[in-house]
Amino acid sequence: MTEILIIDFGSQYTQLIFHTFMYRLSANVRLIDVVAFNKLNLTKDCPQLKAIVLSGSPRSVNMESVDIKVKPLAKHYYVLGICYGAQLIAKEYGCKLASTAGQYGEAVISVTQEDDLFSNIPPRFKTWMSHGDHLVRVSKHVQVLAYAANNMPAAWKVQKRIYGTQFHPEVNNTEYGQDILRNFMNIAGVVPKRDKGSLVHQIMKQIKNQVGQNKVLLALSGGVDSTTLAYMLHRSIGSQMRAVIIDNGLMRSNEISEIVEQFRSEPIEQSIVVAHAEDMFISRLAGVTDPEFKRQIIGKTFIDVIISEGRKLEAQGFKATFLAQGTIYPDVIESGAVPGSSVIKSHHNVGGLPKDIPFKLIEPFRYLFKDDVRLIANYLNIPIAMYTRKPFPGPGLAIRIIGAITEERLKIAREADLLLRSELARLEQNKRIWQTAAILLPIKTVGVKGDNRSYEHVIALRMVDSVNGMTAQSSLVPIDTLHYIARQITDHVKGVNRVVYDLSSKPPATIEWE
Ligand code: XMP
Repeated sequence: MTEILIIDFGSQYTQLIFHTFMYRLSANVRLIDVVAFNKLNLTKDCPQLKAIVLSGSPRSVNMESVDIKVKPLAKHYYVLGICYGAQLIAKEYGCKLASTAGQYGEAVISVTQEDDLFSNIPPRFKTWMSHGDHLVRVSKHVQVLAYAANNMPAAWKVQKRIYGTQFHPEVNNTEYGQDILRNFMNIAGVVPKRDKGSLVHQIMKQIKNQVGQNKVLLALSGGVDSTTLAYMLHRSIGSQMRAVIIDNGLMRSNEISEIVEQFRSEPIEQSIVVAHAEDMFISRLAGVTDPEFKRQIIGKTFIDVIISEGRKLEAQGFKATFLAQGTIYPDVIESGAVPGSSVIKSHHNVGGLPKDIPFKLIEPFRYLFKDDVRLIANYLNIPIAMYTRKPFPGPGLAIRIIGAITEERLKIAREADLLLRSELARLEQNKRIWQTAAILLPIKTVGVKGDNRSYEHVIALRMVDSVNGMTAQSSLVPIDTLHYIARQITDHVKGVNRVVYDLSSKPPATIEWE
């Protein structure tokens, strides 16, 4: 029985809104796009409905009109608009919005008007913004509740039932964001339901129902998501599953043998095969510099290898009907696979996958985030080292080598990555950092080495703090550590004479550079 309906305008964060209400706040919530929403008969289809949430969007309220009017909805329901959703409300109620300068990342706001939305929350706190439009003239119908710097309205209210926040309460970087959404639930009279913990059982049941007596091929990368899925599949369908680890030649130093080793003596060891496809990937990527083209090639090659492994297994009497992938929501949203959302980058397992593949897909984590998958892994008692691994993208070093991929450039990227990771571990600085990367830039710069001129490569260090990869902040790594690692890289990685540190947050940047 839906009590909160989220209308999706295509924001990168809509699923986080859904997720926070669903899993963290235990609300009866449903997500729907604008077209489907306009077909609903709310009284008949959602008799318990109490609140409507309008998501963010890549669109601008000044560019396109939207087929939703808040006034009639607010007669019956509480409404919360987030970012674009809030701007829609403001526009409908006579405010003027400008698209002059966007704001992406952290912004401290001050609550200037007491309201239940900010109940038990300090008057100043950090929020996360990601918007192009902002309020420049507030109409008499709209009451501003909080401001960001330069007197920019950060939260507002219309009459008693309509709220808007310019910032994103659903992302972890907004302090008290979850409390704000809980306060909104309280205001709207939505009572949390209590059936947590059933997620794992629900997913296992779904897998069994979907698979029936058929067989499943799992694309196993050794990362948190596909490893957790491997255990889940093994426990729910046992010998109906085989897992393929693909060596694409783009992995980090010794990575394939480390992954294989971590499954040694584990019950699923017998179900795993390694496919050596290094040459195929590297030759198809030769000379390719465009990030999206790289991703398409990797997605296509990945599926070609899976098909060929499937044929080999079929010859041994194991014919797979399904392909299982540890796809998580950031892969889906960034690939533009949600109606109304933009393609940010085609993840190899979603947007990079060709349209016609000879398998049915099973992706039980498609609407989850990495922190959820880690919770599931913990629940399933998977060895801790396996689910605390730092994320590493499927396309591997291909998207950390900006420009063309050559053997020489792969070697540099691999060595720099190894030094970065091993030195951080040795200095015991690696645990608090969510993800690390050494990015090889497509330029050379002049330096001086032993009295001689050098003209060599540049490595950019990327270290971020995050919870689920949807937003991220550049890690505040001590400057001594950065100096030390830079020195290690320029001393030991042949061909590099300069190291820089990436200070950007996501948004406006992303974690990976391609
Ligand atoms: P970005 O760079 O978009 O990355 O901020 C968010 C998270 O996703 C990872 N990533 C990928 N993972 N296939 C993957 O399996 C991909 O194509 C891919 N692209 C990015 C990235 O490493 C980060 O953890």
